[in-house]
Amino acid sequence: MSEPVFLIFGKTGWIGQLVGGLLQEMGAKFEYATARLEDRSAVLADIERVKPTHVLNAAGLTGRPNVDWCESHKVETIRVNVVGCLTLADVCLTKNIHMTYYGTGCIFHYDDNFPMNSGKGFKENDQPNFTGSYYSYSKAIVESLLKEYPNVLTLRVRMPIVPDLVYPRNFITKIIKYDKVVNIPNSMTVLPELLPYSIEMAKRKLTGIMNYTNPGCISHNEILELYKQYIDPEFTWQNFTLEEQAKVIVAPRSNNLL
Ligand SMILES: NC(=O)c1ccc[n+]([C@@H]2O[C@H](COP(=O)([O-])OP(=O)(O)OC[C@H]3O[C@@H](n4cnc5c(N)ncnc54)[C@H](OP(=O)(O)O)[C@@H]3O)[C@@H](O)[C@H]2O)c1
Repeated sequence: MSEPVFLIFGKTGWIGQLVGGLLQEMGAKFEYATARLEDRSAVLADIERVKPTHVLNAAGLTGRPNVDWCESHKVETIRVNVVGCLTLADVCLTKNIHMTYYGTGCIFHYDDNFPMNSGKGFKENDQPNFTGSYYSYSKAIVESLLKEYPNVLTLRVRMPIVPDLVYPRNFITKIIKYDKVVNIPNSMTVLPELLPYSIEMAKRKLTGIMNYTNPGCISHNEILELYKQYIDPEFTWQNFTLEEQAKVIVAPRSNNLL
């Protein structure tokens, strides 16, 4: 079998950077794409240039400073997260290339069928039940369409955690900076543990959907207690309810056990 060649979309992004670093450490052949996802001819040109055996799609609109941005930029969100992602998957299929998509598990929410603290989690074949934010809505749509593509592996990433607290999107860094924080158990993705598996899964050309999280769930307070124990003994925080949280954000957020 010939040596795998990876083409990564998401050069400037958090996960794209981490995946590139990982491939570099492994001594694997890879390049970053230059195309915008929705520009089919530019995507084709990248593929002609790099001739990848595998595409890793870590590109997407996540919103800045947070996903609330997507509420007021719906067309841009559709263009990248739906049209762009599908364009890339479709080009890869026509060229017989495997695509790994770093998607999201923020398309599920506790409800009467999946109550919080029940131990009953959402499985890979469950239908998304959270479309409360436009970001999640776009991601639920694209996941449901992508699953028809036989060349695509969809990884449901959630609340990513890394050891280095300088990353503002690190879930730990996020919640230690909030004035008030809700306290809900969630499934999360410890990136340094799980990202190497995504490379291995890509190499094996696995396809379909995977709840790409560490086992079980952990609550905000459990994380903050660990932070206090190991990092900053003086750290204090205040909790608030989901109803109070709703007053300081635009769109609802999902909480789930995958
Ligand atoms: N971070 C999280 O909390 C989190 C949680 C769950 C899932 N995810 C998912 O994981 C994936 C990567 O997330 P991330 O945190 O690494 O995101 P990020 O740091 O916001 O990076 C997004 C990347 O996508 C690129 N991009 C945006 N629009 C593009 C377009 N039209 N064409 C090509 N590239 C485009 C950006 O490039 P430019 O700078 O050039 O625009 C950037 O490199 C996303 O699908 C996200 O939904 C993230």
